[in-house]
Amino acid sequence: MRRAVLISLCLLCCILLADLSFAVEGNTRKGKFLYRKNCRSCHGVSASDLSPLSKTQAAWKAAAASHESIPCVKDWPQLSAGDRADIFSYLYAFAADSPTPAKCD
Ligand code: HEC
Repeated sequence: MRRAVLISLCLLCCILLADLSFAVEGNTRKGKFLYRKNCRSCHGVSASDLSPLSKTQAAWKAAAASHESIPCVKDWPQLSAGDRADIFSYLYAFAADSPTPAKCD
């Protein structure tokens, strides 16, 4: 009986952890704010006019998973893993092929 409880607890933890590690699970509202603050300083000014619409959901997901290889990552202001997750959630949620594509940002 106790073993069954332990096993279900483990399973629950695994599910929760897997969920957290999925970058597109952040807060999209906060992500939009953080994107404007930390990325729009260049994108749309000195760099490409990058917005959620610039990529598909699959492409944003891939970008989030290997963000270290994004060319400007060294120029990003200090961002916590949570901030990054929020930014990529925003980009993902309003991607070109998302159910709710961004209108203009
Ligand atoms: C200091 C300026 C600067 C900042 C700040 C900046 N970028 Fe960039 N970024 C660039 C430049 C320059 C490039 C490469 C050329 C281009 O795309 O204009 C680039 C390229 C990229 C690319 C690849 C472009 C593509 O089409 O795949 C992504 C994705 C990206 N940036 C995301 C971000 C995100 C997310 C942030 C905020 C966390 C950010 N950038 C902040 C300057 C910046």
